[in-house]
Amino acid sequence: MPPLSSLALAFLIYSSHVLGSQSALGSATLAACLSHLPYRVVLPSSPDYDLASRAYNRRLTFHPAAVVYPTSASEVSAAILCGASSGVPVVARSGGHSAAAYSLGGQDGSLVVDLSRLNGVTFEKKGEIVHVQTGNRLVDLARALKGVGRALPHGTCPSVGVGGHAAFGGFGFASREWGLLLDRMIGAEIVLSDGRVVNATLDENPDLFWAIRGSAPSFGIATSYTFVTLPEPPVTTAYSYVFAGNASSAAQCLFAFQEFATSSAPPPLGMQFSLISDLTYELFGSYTGPRKDFENIFLPLVRECEKTSDQDSGTHEFAQEMGWEAYLVSQAGTPPRIADCFYAKSLMTAENTPLSLRTIEAFTTYLYTEAHKHRLSWFVEVDLYGGVGSAINAVPKLDTAFKHRDRLLGFHMKASSRDQRPPYPEDGYAFINGMADALRSGSENATFGSYGSYVDPLLREEDWRRMYYGEEIYERLRMLKAKWDPSGVFAYPQMISTAVKEEQEGRRTVDEL
Ligand SMILES: Cc1cc2nc3c(=O)[nH]c(=O)nc-3n(C[C@H](O)[C@H](O)[C@H](O)COP(=O)(O)OP(=O)(O)OC[C@H]3O[C@@H](n4cnc5c(N)ncnc54)[C@H](O)[C@@H]3O)c2cc1C
Ligand SMILES: *[C@@H]1O[C@H](CO)[C@@H](O)[C@H](O)[C@H]1NC(C)=O
Ligand SMILES: *[C@@H]1O[C@H](CO)[C@@H](O)[C@H](O)[C@H]1NC(C)=O
Ligand SMILES: *[C@@H]1O[C@H](CO)[C@@H](O)[C@H](O)[C@H]1NC(C)=O
Repeated sequence: MPPLSSLALAFLIYSSHVLGSQSALGSATLAACLSHLPYRVVLPSSPDYDLASRAYNRRLTFHPAAVVYPTSASEVSAAILCGASSGVPVVARSGGHSAAAYSLGGQDGSLVVDLSRLNGVTFEKKGEIVHVQTGNRLVDLARALKGVGRALPHGTCPSVGVGGHAAFGGFGFASREWGLLLDRMIGAEIVLSDGRVVNATLDENPDLFWAIRGSAPSFGIATSYTFVTLPEPPVTTAYSYVFAGNASSAAQCLFAFQEFATSSAPPPLGMQFSLISDLTYELFGSYTGPRKDFENIFLPLVRECEKTSDQDSGTHEFAQEMGWEAYLVSQAGTPPRIADCFYAKSLMTAENTPLSLRTIEAFTTYLYTEAHKHRLSWFVEVDLYGGVGSAINAVPKLDTAFKHRDRLLGFHMKASSRDQRPPYPEDGYAFINGMADALRSGSENATFGSYGSYVDPLLREEDWRRMYYGEEIYERLRMLKAKWDPSGVFAYPQMISTAVKEEQEGRRTVDEL
């Protein structure tokens, strides 16, 4: 009897051979099936394939089997059935901003269902309820809401897609008061792996509704979300205070930010501490209310940061009242990015384990000593998620598949190539990993989570399972995956999987023998 290892090797060789020819066969079957569809289909042989398969994050290139552009849920269904019958993994693309290019599959050979033609927005009850097709970008959603004097919490980048944004959170400065975008969701229209189009709400398919709010792409393609909107606030104060200093003054300011966050920050206050390539740091965000109220609350923190910063370099101060639309535009950045070339990580701290000054100093010391060694364009953004009265953390832990209901700060660490174009400099990974290691050097390490919207394709499986979902949510998702997508039609590298992958593939091959 041969030793187990060579037996396993034989299976591996055999199965990769079978799977290899299966995927070539799959592409041909897929192309034949797609040729019957009455809408735009882009195949590798098409002249517009390169453009259609280009990632927002140019660090990554993947070669999908096809990119299709349906115009309705039933057309999405037809595409999914083609993918399912040819054994080609199916992924949705809304705004295409996935940091891991998971909307191109995150691997070669996927069927990309581009939703840009599903861009309807309809209102009910004078705008209190909105049905948004998932191909809309945040800018389209904001414009439509503006027309009826309503608003929703969401991020700042206008070209991010509604489909992917609400799938993994959807955080903005209004979220401490209004929740995440997914917390405003009361229903969704989902196309399933068997082609059925179903509604999911608290009453209808509630387990599916639970799963898509935190892990949508593993369960289906959402073609429309329904949200409960809020009245547009009459006045918002946008603010920015920029400081220069050194590792120790930056650490003092970030520590004061954290103290203020846990003790004094009311829910209408959105806050971010950021540090960028030129080693200046900033208090940035918005307050839903007048400037006077804002200053009464916030200036003590500014004064605290001024105590240690370099006064000679001239602190930049800005706080201005504006309407909601002007506020959104002011956040968008000019001009809005259309592409980038980056690697990023997310670490979220727990509310009951705030960072020690020592850990924060280790982090800023790393930045101030390492930054000049790299030709990268980078930032660290530290968002306040929790704190006194945060609406995000008011949601009971298991109400949705979104894990983070007990977080205080979210660290988003990102390094791009200087000109935002490829090639990506090799030292970018080490620079970002060094930031994460500095944060992890403290005793708070064990309690860190990771925000799934800032998806990190280089996390090990056991780490992303724990950091995006945690065991309780992941186990539930695993059972629901078996129910709603039993044959794994919706597949990508960090999908919810029903079982240990290698084992399953091995068995299937043995059965076929
Ligand atoms: C410049 C920039 C700024 C950002 N700012 C913020 C911010 O302020 N706050 C914040 O919370 N996040 C922010 N993000 C992160 C952003 O929310 C996520 O990257 C989000 O997933 C992007 O959604 P998308 O539709 O554009 O991406 P896509 O790449 O199209 O999709 C992302 C993932 O969701 C899946 N998916 C997309 N549509 C559907 C659907 N209809 N049904 C099922 N699955 C779907 C895709 O397959 C993919 O896995 C930012 C990202 C960038 C690049
Ligand atoms: C889903 O709900 C909408 C109303 O919100 C309804 O028009 C549609 O028919 C429903 N679809 C299914 C499959 O039940
Ligand atoms: C930072 O700057 C302050 C004030 O200029 C100075 O007292 C301190 O020694 C500096 N710390 C470091 C680590 O350079
Ligand atoms: C911190 O956590 C990471 C990931 O869980 C682990 O690999 C690392 O060893 C930990 N570091 C310390 C200093 O505990």
